[in-house]
Amino acid sequence: MAKESKSKRIYPWKTKAGGEEMTLRLMTAEDGPAMLEFARALPEDDLLFLAVDITDERAVDDWIRRLKDKIIHTILVEKDGRLVGHGSLIHEEQVWTRHLGGMILLLAPEVRGKGLGHILAGELFRYAEDLGLRKIVARMAADQKGAIQVFEKLGFKAEALLTDCVIDRNDMTHDLIIMSYDVTGFNE
Ligand SMILES: CC(C)(COP(=O)(O)OP(=O)(O)OC[C@H]1O[C@@H](n2cnc3c(N)ncnc32)[C@H](O)[C@@H]1OP(=O)(O)O)[C@@H](O)C(=O)NCCC(=O)NCCS
Repeated sequence: MAKESKSKRIYPWKTKAGGEEMTLRLMTAEDGPAMLEFARALPEDDLLFLAVDITDERAVDDWIRRLKDKIIHTILVEKDGRLVGHGSLIHEEQVWTRHLGGMILLLAPEVRGKGLGHILAGELFRYAEDLGLRKIVARMAADQKGAIQVFEKLGFKAEALLTDCVIDRNDMTHDLIIMSYDVTGFNE
């Protein structure tokens, strides 16, 4: 059944990316196995810096719990009925950061560079606005040069560099870059 987000966007909806039809829909509690399958098929380089290890069933169960609690809002991308990515907005309601949302974008390699990151970010910005959030924060390792460039193109600005604040799957530490996007447009 189609679901309606606060932004009045009706999900699922279809779009074309790189000439191929993609379906965007909201994640539900039934999508755990598909999320696990998607994550476990990602190349090792992508797994290195996952903030949440969605190859682990417990992490996916926790994700779904936070989805039900409306702490995470996840939009899935499907191609030919198969999960090929997600865009997620995380809204932790700690009182002094209640105006902030976190953004995670993750696409399967075969659907990158076709504009889907842009589409997902647009959906999440709209969601953030409807939730009354003012600022979106994205965190990535300083080594993720491609992702940093993508987020710059999406309108994010680098705000901070924290030394050795990320530890990867191989127990190596990396510098963390915090980028932000002003949903209200005040800093544009
Ligand atoms: C980051 C990611 C979601 C981007 O999605 P995407 O669909 O490939 O991005 P898009 O095709 O929408 O491109 C968005 C913009 O970035 C540019 N871009 C895309 N890939 C790029 C790259 N590797 N290097 C530099 N710029 C790039 C595009 O040209 C586009 O710019 P434009 O708006 O001027 O046309 C995707 O590459 C991914 O899943 N990467 C692995 C996970 C990750 O690193 N996530 C970021 C941390 S949350």
